[in-house]
Amino acid sequence: MNGLNETLCLKVDREKPDPAVIRVAANILKGGGLVAFPTETVYGLGASVMDSQAVEKIFKAKGRPQDNPLIAHVDGSAMARELVSSIDAPARALMEAFWPGPLTLVLKGSGIVSPLVSAGQESLALRMPRHQVALALITEAGVALAAPSANISGRPSPTSALHVERDLGGRIDAILDGGAADLGVESTVLDMTGPVPIILRPGGTTPEDIARVVGRVQMDPSVEGELSENRAPRSPGMKYRHYAPRGQLLLVEGEAKPVVAKIMELAEKYQQAGIKVGVLCRREHLPIYSGIAAVPAGSEKGPSTVAAELYHALRSFDSLGVDIILAEGVEPRGIGLAVANRLRRASGNNIIRV
Ligand code: TXA
Ligand code: MG
Repeated sequence: MNGLNETLCLKVDREKPDPAVIRVAANILKGGGLVAFPTETVYGLGASVMDSQAVEKIFKAKGRPQDNPLIAHVDGSAMARELVSSIDAPARALMEAFWPGPLTLVLKGSGIVSPLVSAGQESLALRMPRHQVALALITEAGVALAAPSANISGRPSPTSALHVERDLGGRIDAILDGGAADLGVESTVLDMTGPVPIILRPGGTTPEDIARVVGRVQMDPSVEGELSENRAPRSPGMKYRHYAPRGQLLLVEGEAKPVVAKIMELAEKYQQAGIKVGVLCRREHLPIYSGIAAVPAGSEKGPSTVAAELYHALRSFDSLGVDIILAEGVEPRGIGLAVANRLRRASGNNIIRV
């Protein structure tokens, strides 16, 4: 389905999804349709991994570049095993430790899924989501689901059914509404095809957690800093501008006090020049920015609170119509690494360190 049709919105209980509702959604998938569904990270846009026509519709609906591969979502290790050529001891240990959960493993594919899923690569990314609705849907469909985040390409990932509706309403067949996503940032993508596991995208599972299970883990150079023109990233998704709100984002990183002071200084300067300024900040700092369009993302309690609200906050700037967003940074540790990575990418690497 494309263009003018209605998107079916199906409400489900996140803990105990009604089997009849799941069946409706699974039948759409079996018939080659697209269904958005909640996971513990963000909402995904699903299609059967076996159905090339359906997978092609995902790329079309999102406006996603064809060379950016998709994650196959499975309901357990049995389904995973059929999709890859083998699962070695480290991969098995990671599955046992973190599945279901926000860890995507890139392994060598067995070649049975549509070649569009892996965008022509030999590897296949696998993940078992920690969400009853996602798991029930995969099981009822009886097949793994190729599912990127359910946003228009380049926009912040959706953390609610409403975000999906805003981006993809009329372009997909159905949305399973299971409420807000828990984590708010995507899964960690870990390349297991070489001798040492490499983090291609930091996410909900921290490098520290992974290292505890497999010992050594490396960070792909594309995770930090800019990509050089002639070095292709291993995770093709990392080369595209991402998570971007409609105003230009300027990220200010450092200790809380100097960050706030810098943002106040910049806000004043821009406002004097007639530029409309917005601020993305910790909830506790809202009173400091009175008189400025400030949007809270999390609290000083820690980066997981920022993760949970970040994409919603980025989206809310769209309706505020600001020209520039001054954003408070997050310490890149633990889950904060993923949050800092998304903020840096949303800024297009416009970062001030104080
Ligand atoms: O939490 C998540 O991972 C969410 C939910 C819906 O599961 N999904 C998600 O998918 O974020 P997407 O398509 O927005 O991001 C997948 C990332 C992209 O950066 C893509 O390039 C990378 O994973 N990827 C997928 N398959 C790959 C492969 N075979 N080799 C390397 N990178 C791969
Ligand atoms: Mg995405």
